[in-house]
Amino acid sequence: MATVSILYFSGAGHTAKLAEAVAQGAASIAGVKTNLIALSGDDITKGRYHNDAVFAQLDASDAILFGSPTYMGGPAAQFKAFADASGDRWYRGAWRDKLAAGFTVSSGPSGDKLSTLHYFFTLAMQHGMIWVGFPENSMNDKGINRLSSYSGVMAQAGQEPVEIAPNAADKLTGELLGRRVAAFAAKLAV
Ligand SMILES: Cc1cc2nc3c(=O)[nH]c(=O)nc-3n(C[C@H](O)[C@H](O)[C@H](O)COP(=O)(O)O)c2cc1C
Repeated sequence: MATVSILYFSGAGHTAKLAEAVAQGAASIAGVKTNLIALSGDDITKGRYHNDAVFAQLDASDAILFGSPTYMGGPAAQFKAFADASGDRWYRGAWRDKLAAGFTVSSGPSGDKLSTLHYFFTLAMQHGMIWVGFPENSMNDKGINRLSSYSGVMAQAGQEPVEIAPNAADKLTGELLGRRVAAFAAKLAV
């Protein structure tokens, strides 16, 4: 049994919708247990993130997918507070060789989302994790990876007034990332 955790912050609910799609994709792989973990700003006191239960779930995971909205060209401050709190795991090499991947949502088609994904990548490399990219070709009729991001999944908010974006194509894109990471985690756990 492999354990895949989807760890995300969402301020207004868009990234939460994408995280749910990622988790749905991960859960569709046989032999995979999925944790969907929302970071809460209530766990940040004087700028410091603290939640032992969240870290225990991550410590017990074979793969962690990082998710955050892109705020001012990078991850949300709440995500960064969590990342800073992971420094203790960095010191002990506790997350070394776990799989990692990332996803982000913002209003613009670009909106500097790549900076957020690259931050996740750097965080994963500091922890000695193994980065899983997203090779789905954007040239398809379903809108899969329509924003053409191969470092991780990008989704766009604000284009559908009748439901909370990301739209169906972006959610499918997130689902495929979840499937991909979980499939690798299941193989490695054998
Ligand atoms: C403080 C703040 C900064 C933002 N900065 C950006 C940005 O740099 N690029 C962008 O395209 N959208 C930006 N946005 C829009 C958000 O990325 C977008 O609304 C996103 O869907 C929010 O995700 P959430 O609902 O999970 O919080 C920003 C929004 C806020 C509140």
